[in-house]
Amino acid sequence: LKGKYLEGISGAGDETALEEIRLAALGKKGEISLKMRELGQMDPAVRQAAGAALNRLKDEIDAALRAKKAALADAALDERLKAEWLDVTLPGRPRRMGTIHPVSQVTEEVTAIFADMGFAVAEGPQIESDWYNFDALNIPPEHPARQEHDTFFMARAEGDDRPPHVLRTHTSPVQIRAMQTHGAPLRVIAPGRVYRMDMDQTHTPMFHQVEGLAIDRDLSMANLKWVLEEFCRAFFEVDTVELRFRASHFPFTEPSAEVDIRCSWEGGQLKIGEGDGWMEILGSGMVHPKVLAAGGIDPNEWQGFAFGLGIDRLAMLKYGIPDLRAFFESDLRWLRHYGFAG
Ligand code: PHE
Repeated sequence: LKGKYLEGISGAGDETALEEIRLAALGKKGEISLKMRELGQMDPAVRQAAGAALNRLKDEIDAALRAKKAALADAALDERLKAEWLDVTLPGRPRRMGTIHPVSQVTEEVTAIFADMGFAVAEGPQIESDWYNFDALNIPPEHPARQEHDTFFMARAEGDDRPPHVLRTHTSPVQIRAMQTHGAPLRVIAPGRVYRMDMDQTHTPMFHQVEGLAIDRDLSMANLKWVLEEFCRAFFEVDTVELRFRASHFPFTEPSAEVDIRCSWEGGQLKIGEGDGWMEILGSGMVHPKVLAAGGIDPNEWQGFAFGLGIDRLAMLKYGIPDLRAFFESDLRWLRHYGFAG
């Protein structure tokens, strides 16, 4: 009897089958219940032994039924979990969005501002010939300015005694390329990477410049000054800026000026156009006649002004970031801290 029911229970495939077995054994008219009822007519001596045995049997079957029922429920839950693994009621997992790097953002802003003033974008290679990077810009081989550029030189093939190519040390060679390609009149800016062997809080071996070049008849420093002031107003989003032109020297401009912007730092907060501090932002000047000639333009007919802005410096100023090196470490925590990454 016991074997029959236990076997039946372990083989039951669902709750309905289990219930049938329960009824057959322990239900009102179940086999075991009937036997229990028969106890009444038995001999007291036999009854005691039979009663105990029947009770044990009943308990055993009962326990087996419960255990099987729980196992079936577990299996059913597993099935459901597998079938319904997509819970559309769970909240969505947010995905972080990528954003534009501050240097790229500033490059785009600068480009847009100069585009409004009629400047087109020009480009040149980052590995540049000695001639474009130096000679054409009036920096001949023995010129002291060459030392100041901390140049990275490219390796030369054995037996090649031409001057080695360089990683361009500034965007100024693009002036020559633009002149050769488009001639005069001309208005271009050239944003891009430049390289110098230098590394500290405000210098990295790779950094970014925007070159500006305008060539026309009757251009003067006054035009340069207006363009730069207009640019600074738009870039720093202020009504008035004060620029200081300091006499300087670049071989490729004459006269030359370095330009500072009036600003103040208060509690890590930069204010443009007020305070008693000055921050250098660019080099500039009137294009040297020799440079116009190297670009194939007649210096007797045309004048030009040129400037070179440090993009990374502009980004540091605009976003109040003290260390330039962090710009190029691709640390997402840093980008998020300054609000550049989602
Ligand atoms: N090329 C100069 C530099 O890298 C900047 C500059 C550009 C100066 C154009 C004058 C005119 O420092």
